[in-house]
Amino acid sequence: VLEIPVELGPRSYVVSVGHGLAAELPALLGGPKRRSVVVADRRVWSRHGARLQRGLARLGAAHRVLIPPGERFKSRRSLAALHDAFVDARLGRDGRVIAVGGGVVGDLAGFAAATWMRGIDWVQVPTTLLAMVDSSVGGKVGINHPEAKNLIGAFHQPGAVVADPELLDTLAPRQRRSGCYEVLKAGLIGDRDLFAAMAGAPPGLRGWDRPAVENAIAAAVRVKAQVVERDEREGGLRRVLNLGHTVGHALETLTRYRRFTHGEAVGWGLLAATWIARRRGLVGEASAAAIDAAVAGLGPRPPVHDLDPGDILAALARDKKAVAGRVPFVLPRGLGRVVIAGDVSRGEIRSALRALARIPAR
Ligand SMILES: NC(=O)c1ccc[n+]([C@@H]2O[C@H](COP(=O)([O-])OP(=O)(O)OC[C@H]3O[C@@H](n4cnc5c(N)ncnc54)[C@H](O)[C@@H]3O)[C@@H](O)[C@H]2O)c1
Ligand SMILES: [Zn+2]
Repeated sequence: VLEIPVELGPRSYVVSVGHGLAAELPALLGGPKRRSVVVADRRVWSRHGARLQRGLARLGAAHRVLIPPGERFKSRRSLAALHDAFVDARLGRDGRVIAVGGGVVGDLAGFAAATWMRGIDWVQVPTTLLAMVDSSVGGKVGINHPEAKNLIGAFHQPGAVVADPELLDTLAPRQRRSGCYEVLKAGLIGDRDLFAAMAGAPPGLRGWDRPAVENAIAAAVRVKAQVVERDEREGGLRRVLNLGHTVGHALETLTRYRRFTHGEAVGWGLLAATWIARRRGLVGEASAAAIDAAVAGLGPRPPVHDLDPGDILAALARDKKAVAGRVPFVLPRGLGRVVIAGDVSRGEIRSALRALARIPAR
C-alpha cells in the first residue's frame, strides 16, 4: 500500500493507493463503528457493491444512496435527496459520509457532508482514474447550477481517501484514457519521472503491472498534495493545477460538454500551452516535442480542427478566471516545472489554436 499524506494541519489526511484496498475499508478507516451513509454511483455499485458491502456494514454504514451516472446528477436535486437521506439515517455531528464513485459522486457527497450540520466527516473511495489522481484530493466539493458547472461549492477536506485501482477494471476505456491526461499533467507540473513514465504509457495504462499503475497514481497524488499543502484555498499557487485547463475549459463549454471528456479537452489544452511556451522560449524544441508526443500517445481524441478559433477565443474570455478579458495561462517550463503567465496575448493564443487545428486527432 502506498500512502501519501496531505499535510493540512488539523485537516490532514492520508491517500492510500493499492489494489484490493476497497475490501479493507474497516482496517483503513479504523475506530469505533459510526453511523454512516454511503453515497455511491449506481453503475459502480452494480459492479462492485457486493464486494464493498461487507466492509461498509462493519463500519456502521447501514444507509445507502445510489446516484445515477452522469454529470447532470451533480445537481441541487441530488443534494436535496442526500440531505433527506441524512435525515432518515439520523446522521448526527459524529456521523460520516462515504463517497464511492467518480468525481461527480465525490463532489456531490462531499458538498452534502460540508453542508450537513456545518460540516461532518467524510471519506472518499474514488472509482475513476480522474477521481483518484485529481478530484478526491484537495477538498474542493460542490454541485452544478443549471447556468454553469461547479457554481455552488465549498472547501471541505475528506478524512481519508482510499484509491483501489482494481476498481478501474470496469471503467470504460475512454474514461481510463481520459484520466491519463491528468496524470501526465501532474508529471509536467512537478514530477519529471512521472512525465517520463506517462510518455511511454500504453493507452489507458492497460497492460501495466500493478506496481506501475499504483506508482503513477501515487506520484500524481503527491504532486497535487504538495500544491494543495502550500495553497489550500487557491490563493495563487494552486492555479498551477490548471495547466492545460484554460483552453481545455473553452473547448468543453464551446461543445457543451458533449464532444470531449474532460481529460481529452485537457490534452488539447496541454498542447496549446506547450505551443505558447515553446514560442516564448520557456521550453526547448526537444522538451516541447516530448510533450507533444506524450499527449499524442494517450489518444485518440475528438478533433478540434472544425471549431472556429474566434469562438474558442470568445469562450476563453468568458472564463471565470479572466482578468480584463485575459486569462492567466499556466505554461510548462521544461519538464516537471510550470510558470503562470498573465500576459498571454490573443495573438499567441490564436497561433496556438491554428497549430492545434493542424495536428491530426488520430
Ligand atoms: N473536486 C475537484 O477538485 C475536482 C477536480 C476535477 C474534476 N472534478 C469533477 O469531477 C467530475 C468528473 O469526474 P469523473 O471523470 O470521475 O466522472 P464521473 O464521476 O461522471 O464518472 C465517469 C463515468 O464512469 C462511471 N464509473 C465510475 N467509476 C466506475 C467504475 N469503477 N467502473 C465502471 N464505471 C465507472 C460513472 O458511472 C460515469 O458514467 C466533474 O464533475 C468535475 O467537475 C472535481
Ligand atoms: Zn482537470
